[in-house]
Amino acid sequence: MTKKLWGSRFPKKTHILTERFTSSIAYDQRLARYDILGSIAHAKMLGRQRIIKGDEAALLVKGLNSLLTDLKAGKLKIDLKSEDIHSFIQNLLKKRIGGVADKLHTGRSRNDQIALDIRMYIKEEINNLTELLTQLQRSVLRFAIDNKGIIIPGYTHLQRAQCVLLSHLLLAYIEALERDKERLQDARERIDFMPLGSCAFSGTSLPLDRGFVCRQLGFKAATTNSIDSVADRDFIIEVVADLAIISVHLSRIAEDLILWSTQEFNFIDIDFSFCTGSSIMPHKKNPDVLELIRGLSGRIQGDLSSLLVLLKGLPTSYNRDLQLDKPPLFDALDNVKESLEILAELFENIVVKKEAIASHLKDESLFTVDIVEYLIKKGVSYRQAHDIVGRMVKDCLDKGKRISELSVGELKRFSPFLDLEIKHFLDPGVSVELKRSLGGTSPQLVAGRIDYWRRRLK
Ligand code: ARG
Repeated sequence: MTKKLWGSRFPKKTHILTERFTSSIAYDQRLARYDILGSIAHAKMLGRQRIIKGDEAALLVKGLNSLLTDLKAGKLKIDLKSEDIHSFIQNLLKKRIGGVADKLHTGRSRNDQIALDIRMYIKEEINNLTELLTQLQRSVLRFAIDNKGIIIPGYTHLQRAQCVLLSHLLLAYIEALERDKERLQDARERIDFMPLGSCAFSGTSLPLDRGFVCRQLGFKAATTNSIDSVADRDFIIEVVADLAIISVHLSRIAEDLILWSTQEFNFIDIDFSFCTGSSIMPHKKNPDVLELIRGLSGRIQGDLSSLLVLLKGLPTSYNRDLQLDKPPLFDALDNVKESLEILAELFENIVVKKEAIASHLKDESLFTVDIVEYLIKKGVSYRQAHDIVGRMVKDCLDKGKRISELSVGELKRFSPFLDLEIKHFLDPGVSVELKRSLGGTSPQLVAGRIDYWRRRLK
């Protein structure tokens, strides 16, 4: 183990098991960049406030910048024997610039330091996530545009329901992903407070300028309660909840595509490059990528639960339990990012099977609501219209007949308002054309929304 930041008070060395058990460097090393940036701002502030000498501050900043350069170049070898990323940076800085490094930790603690590092990290990750969400939206939009005119049977309860444009359903994904982005931006508003200078939990007698550090690091404002600053992990829960919602959206999209790629649906073909085979059944081509996206969603719900339970019993202050906030956060972030990336790529590799879909559209039960609405327009009440068409559908099913095969005489038996004109409605094109209510699936409305999203996602 490298030198402890708290070693002097201890009469003996920590047990090797304690060292291993308490160390977080294996995962918090990914915060190195933010730890160094935070330290640079802190060192500058210490100098400006004359808490340390100007040349000492300059030396600290120079040393920290050299660490940053090495980190960027991939040359900073992380020592996994360090307790955490803060100790590692501190000890390495001392090796580079000598004893003055001991002044860096003036007026701060690892408790406020870690709170700062994660906030900075998440702020940047929210930008990355937003970009990935936009990329997926663009990819879905391209797919919608390429298949603009295609009508599919839509489902409710996973039973055939009514015709919709495939592009209309795809735009539903884009709407959901847009809300995901908005949710992340909302969370970002609450994350954008700078906790450094809260020290262990009570503040400090040293004349810090927290506002300066806040501006240096590009935060909206400094936090206003030192205890809350080191205890608060709401922002992590909030972001992971947002990630959990994103993963639910991705899981549902994946489920649609999995269903559509079955021989039973046969709506789409997913390119071989995004499928895998079976070690026993030579004929198989499985949508494993999509299944894993669906599966990971469960794991991310787990990350959220893990954080909520971690926090619920803690006294209000810093407790070491809080170290365990990072693995679920990182896990949720990494997996959502990977899922977004591969799903965007996968959408570029789907072929829609027009003929196979057209054969599903021969099912005339898809048009019963259109006939009900035709009757309503003739003055029949909704209940009665539903009843008339219901009896007609039942009769057809009982007799193995299609609605289009019914004669005028047969139609009139169900209602004097029915006539051969209804056959006009047994057509997918007519059916979607009729849905002109705001947000409906008519081609004109959908084209308008495609234009809207094209401009928006440019
Ligand atoms: N590694 C800790 C964390 O991730 C920060 C260190 C605080 N440790 C302490 N003994 N106060 O939360």
